[in-house]
Amino acid sequence: MEYAPAEDTFVLLDSLPKKINSVLEIGCGSCFILMRLNAKYKVGCDIRKPINVEGGINFVLCDGRRLPFRHKSFELVFFNPPYLPSESIQDKAVDGGKGGIEIALPFLVQSLMVAKEEGQIFTLLSSLSDLNLFRKILTALHLNFSEKRKRLFFEELIIFKIYAHKNNG
Ligand SMILES: C[S@@+](CC[C@H](N)C(=O)[O-])C[C@H]1O[C@@H](n2cnc3c(N)ncnc32)[C@H](O)[C@@H]1O
Repeated sequence: MEYAPAEDTFVLLDSLPKKINSVLEIGCGSCFILMRLNAKYKVGCDIRKPINVEGGINFVLCDGRRLPFRHKSFELVFFNPPYLPSESIQDKAVDGGKGGIEIALPFLVQSLMVAKEEGQIFTLLSSLSDLNLFRKILTALHLNFSEKRKRLFFEELIIFKIYAHKNNG
């Protein structure tokens, strides 16, 4: 079933730059966010086809852990990955595996490849995810990043803004 836009979708949308040239969303679900961005070139990919895609979006059915796009081609890359810690991945829309970052990490690695030198990557995780490990990996990769937090009832959502290349940001 297609992931219905929820609080995490709205929080990520609020954090994104709204006017850019080229943007890729990995795991775009219904394309709710992409439809609301003002960009010349919009690409969404997911392992499930959206029910209805409008607004000049090029949808590509693919695994976000192996992107079929040219390196350094997007100004902005973002993803709201399945981030709930889970023993195994049963529901691919929400289960993030151990620590909740098993899908987010390969999405990050792919984002670093397809983002332009001066590009930015945004992702959202939860206070339930293994944030410390995620931060350690960003630091080990010498990436500059910042965080914004939004409190919900039973968790906090954390939006990471990551500069795609080491000397950026
Ligand atoms: C939490 S939902 C977010 C959906 C949408 N981006 C939003 O914010 O409403 C995660 C999305 O990632 C997709 N997804 C899960 N594993 C994936 C993979 N390996 N490659 C591409 N997309 C994947 C799911 O199908 C789902 O649409």
